[in-house]
Amino acid sequence: TWTMLNIAEEQIERVREQIGDSGIAICGLSGGVDSAVAAAIVQRAIGDRLHCVFVDHGLLREGEAEQVERDFVAATGVNLHVYDARETFLAALAGVTDPEEKRKIIGREFIRAFEAAEATVLGEAAEQGDKVGFLVQGTLYPDVVESGGGAGTSNIKSHHNVGGLPEDLEFALVEPLRTLFKDEVRLVGEQLGLPAEMVWRQPFPGPGLGIRIIGEVTADRLDILRRADAIARQELTRAGLDRDIWQMPVVLLADVRSVGVQGDGRTYGHPVVIRPVTSEDAMTADWARLPYEVMERISTRITNEVEEINRVTLDITSKPPGTIEWE
Ligand code: XMP
Repeated sequence: TWTMLNIAEEQIERVREQIGDSGIAICGLSGGVDSAVAAAIVQRAIGDRLHCVFVDHGLLREGEAEQVERDFVAATGVNLHVYDARETFLAALAGVTDPEEKRKIIGREFIRAFEAAEATVLGEAAEQGDKVGFLVQGTLYPDVVESGGGAGTSNIKSHHNVGGLPEDLEFALVEPLRTLFKDEVRLVGEQLGLPAEMVWRQPFPGPGLGIRIIGEVTADRLDILRRADAIARQELTRAGLDRDIWQMPVVLLADVRSVGVQGDGRTYGHPVVIRPVTSEDAMTADWARLPYEVMERISTRITNEVEEINRVTLDITSKPPGTIEWE
């Protein structure tokens, strides 16, 4: 912890030097640990001159948007701009069932939404005579190595189609996690007092629940999946297994129905698949042998508490041949 305090302080100092006494920075938050820790470090360095942007695309799990909007802000005091893009994402995803098509649409809409949010923030800053010159990113050391990155004072161009701003803006990149591994990032996050759920969050794909609904993504289906997923996560946590299990996607087979008996009568509901895996790096994975009692509680609670779901199934496929996600 002594070393971790040092790492945090060292990064805060470096950011302070890079951005200077009057520089202004912008940072996109995803709900994940990397962007949160990067933002927290920069906030400590430059305070309210950091503007964080959170695009709520409606594809996060239960409680995750609130974690950013409420708990993270309370813990760090960051200056947060929330951009509600839930309707836009649903409209763009209407009728789409192909996994890669979903990914493309979600990626495209995310960039659009972030740029629109960014434009608002930059516009407000400009009104006060400020120019935003820095973009914060949560790049980790393994990403730097993988991309063959060098010393690390790169610039990035951001394109805008939004009125009132130059088409191309140039930002200097601020990457306070560039020398850190994931476990160090988590420890720094703890040191900076971030919410534990964020710091210890298991990997979660950028396209979010959008690729965990097999079939079209709709508001109703997201709601069903969110409730089932919350129960599965609660029970995993309650069993003390969060750190043993790499990830546990819950997948809604939205176009499949099967007959069941729930309460007083016959139902015709949807199945969910529970996909707990162990892994070192997500390149390969083994299906996790969850204790029977834990599986039982997950199954009983989901079918009792989520009336649209009448069957809980377990994925016992390793990777390869199965991927971790179903799409
Ligand atoms: P697969 O399903 O390929 O997943 O075994 C390997 C790891 O990557 C995550 N994943 C994604 N992450 N965007 C992301 O940011 C994506 O489109 C995406 N698809 C898969 C997955 O959760 C697992 O950790």
